[in-house]
Amino acid sequence: MGTPSEESNLLLYVDPQPRRPSKGRRPHRSAAATQRTVAVLLSIAALIFILATYAWLPHTLNTEETFAGADAESHASNGGVDPSRVFQNILSAKRLRHNLEYYASGTHVAGANMSQTEYTSNYFALQGLDTEIVEYYPWLNRPVGQRVALFDQRTNAVMYEAGLGEDSIPGDHATEDPNNPPAFHSHSAHGNVTGQLVYANYGTAEDIDALTKVGVSLQDKIVLVRHGRTHSSTKLLAAELAGARGMLVYSDPADDGYARGRVYPEGPWRPESSVQRDSVLRSSIYPGDPLTPGYASTRDAQRLLPAEATNLNRIPSLPLSYRDAQPLLNALQGHGTNAADIDRDWVGGLTSRGVRYWTGPSTLLVNLANSVEYKIAPIQNVIGRIRGRETPEEIVIIGNHRDSWSAGASDSSSGSAVLLELARAFGELQKLGWRPRRTIVLASWDAGEYGYVGSTEWVEENIDWLRSDAIAYVNVGTAVAGKVFEAAASPAMKGLLYSVAAQVRQPHSNGTVYEAWLRYSMDQEGDSPASDRTRGHMPKPRVHLPSLASDSVAFIAHAGISVVDLGFTGSTGAHHSSFDSLKRMLGYIDPDMQLHRAAAELWGLLALRLADDPILGHCTRCYAKDLKHYIGQLEKQVAQCWVNTTTPMKFRRLRAAQRQLLSSARIIEHDIKHLRSVYGDDCQMAGRRRHARCLALRASINDRISRLEQHFLDPAGIPHQRWYKHVLFGPEVPVRPPGTQLFPMLAEPLESCNVPRLRQLEKSVADILLEAAWFLREV
Ligand SMILES: *[C@@H]1O[C@H](CO)[C@@H](O)[C@H](O)[C@H]1NC(C)=O
Ligand SMILES: *[C@@H]1O[C@H](CO)[C@@H](O)[C@H](O)[C@H]1NC(C)=O
Ligand SMILES: *[C@@H]1O[C@H](CO)[C@@H](O)[C@H](O)[C@H]1NC(C)=O
Ligand SMILES: *[C@@H]1O[C@H](CO)[C@@H](O)[C@H](O)[C@H]1NC(C)=O
Repeated sequence: MGTPSEESNLLLYVDPQPRRPSKGRRPHRSAAATQRTVAVLLSIAALIFILATYAWLPHTLNTEETFAGADAESHASNGGVDPSRVFQNILSAKRLRHNLEYYASGTHVAGANMSQTEYTSNYFALQGLDTEIVEYYPWLNRPVGQRVALFDQRTNAVMYEAGLGEDSIPGDHATEDPNNPPAFHSHSAHGNVTGQLVYANYGTAEDIDALTKVGVSLQDKIVLVRHGRTHSSTKLLAAELAGARGMLVYSDPADDGYARGRVYPEGPWRPESSVQRDSVLRSSIYPGDPLTPGYASTRDAQRLLPAEATNLNRIPSLPLSYRDAQPLLNALQGHGTNAADIDRDWVGGLTSRGVRYWTGPSTLLVNLANSVEYKIAPIQNVIGRIRGRETPEEIVIIGNHRDSWSAGASDSSSGSAVLLELARAFGELQKLGWRPRRTIVLASWDAGEYGYVGSTEWVEENIDWLRSDAIAYVNVGTAVAGKVFEAAASPAMKGLLYSVAAQVRQPHSNGTVYEAWLRYSMDQEGDSPASDRTRGHMPKPRVHLPSLASDSVAFIAHAGISVVDLGFTGSTGAHHSSFDSLKRMLGYIDPDMQLHRAAAELWGLLALRLADDPILGHCTRCYAKDLKHYIGQLEKQVAQCWVNTTTPMKFRRLRAAQRQLLSSARIIEHDIKHLRSVYGDDCQMAGRRRHARCLALRASINDRISRLEQHFLDPAGIPHQRWYKHVLFGPEVPVRPPGTQLFPMLAEPLESCNVPRLRQLEKSVADILLEAAWFLREV
């Protein structure tokens, strides 16, 4: 056990940059002193508890899992303790709250809050992390002026001038912050356009088809769509392809507002003036800096001209509140088709305010002016490292984006608050002598809201060593926005996710996160977690396809690193608005910070497993099983090309490759069993030769299972989206159903029923999968 002076470090928590006390908000001096005393007493109690845990935990684990470090030798007789148990006890709801209060106390738009960058960096460094601020210079826009107005072409009379501002709520200073950005879309096009208005529901491929069917064209129109189902960038690209002049995206109360529940400040849902800002970068072409596709936007990088950047838009767009959308919708009434005649699904929640949803086009015109200023603006990632003790070259990365649209209590301050607490907990573990087996990297990305810029540029800059050394990336964009746990992940990560979720208590219930997650997944019946519900198997919670709409995108789709995105979701009611405040979070989402604590446990335990397990927990069999399910979905889609024959097309080559992958997964599971039974997975043995053999076998297994993901990349990339290299998962695109696309290379020939091309590309994909299957077997 460490020396007393080491342990006493637990008490030496120093706030790296204390908040300046604001007049009137600070408690009485005496109250503050009492708080400090209580804090010290609590710390002492926590210390005693940790020491007791350390001394008394059953010594079930072998020496390989004991805390290494300076005095590990002399205490080897103490037996081992499980760092994850100690870790769970170190986490503190109070500190999480302190962190959240800090981040949510001001705005932090990309590249525009240096004090939060420095605070994060200082905090990491104080916890003993090897810390650096990594700067990039991407092409970003800033809002200058916005206008949305409805006018009569003949008389030039303005019928409605949208206010575009968000109301401030007395007592919630985040809503009164003069630094809150106006209603705008990042990476939107500068422009001033006028045209007739058309309502296009959510602006999905299906919605635009439906408009075409009733004879409504988007050509030269201003398109009004509601938020949801697909990303704003996908809606905008679809509208542009259909010839629209501009786009307005509003939040409808049916999705997110009074039709769902009480609105803020009476409840958590979206109030009428709330605006949902967003990125409209065409990240389906490539995310990150528009001017440096595929390489880092360092200070001296060669840059494209803005006109050459294929991921920038050409038509202007703005977000709208439902208060501002209402008069626009009213102007459509009686024009075109009654939306209810297309589908009930087209009718939103403003009906209670007298709106009848019609498609238009309107006779009145809409003027949409979006004035933005583009420039090269520095952004700052904060990167902290804890060096691994055994294989320091292997790295596990955990990260979240630090920037947000305003105070961003849930998105992304909750994630940043948890990341800091993980830095502290890992720091405390280090003071107790623990070192992770592999290196852990903590990343606080900038410009996530501008299209995953900070993470993408970092991955692009470090692609070679990431491809050779990264074990996994775990992303938490929003740690807490509701009470429901959800995860999106590479299939390889499923086993670890389930096991960690079973170790954490679901706040305010008697069960685990796993149980609550399973219950929620079962309730979502409609689209059942099919891949996990094969006959005779216990149902498992639903894990979504890996997210290509988060800071995970460059890791999985460009670098081929297995990823996880996790967090507690549920209420979108403040998303990207100035109402995503600390007051709302503490009032309606997580008053006692227990959800934050659970998020910290889940994220940290996952990182500890990835960094410490002697044999990595990547599940290759899960990959093979899910692949089978994906091929089944593909065969369902292709059935439409076979309406005239009785023998539908089978993807035989893909199926053969899938079987190879499954048998390789069995072989590697056998190798693991063999290693465990002959040597034990810790490779602790006397004989030098045996020891070396065990280490070599273990290294080979770990290398194969963690590098499987990379073998799903096609170095040439997906046609028309060359930055994206993964042959199983591609980004959301306008013409297809929303979400991550399976087998993106096959999508085009599938749509056109081009069978020869489909066969040819099936072979390319199958060859890649076969090669991956063989890679798993190579010893
Ligand atoms: C930057 O963040 C700090 C801490 O949250 C905050 O006090 C400050 O107001 C923010 N700056 C701006 C420009 O919003
Ligand atoms: C946009 O163009 C209209 C004329 O089409 C003009 O009246 C208006 O002032 C312009 N607005 C801005 C913000 O430039
Ligand atoms: C937990 O269990 C106790 C005792 O069985 C019960 O009284 C309590 O209501 C349960 N709490 C929840 C949140 O289910
Ligand atoms: C099916 O047969 C009909 C009539 O023979 C033909 O018009 C159509 O194009 C065929 N469809 C496909 C997908 O081959």
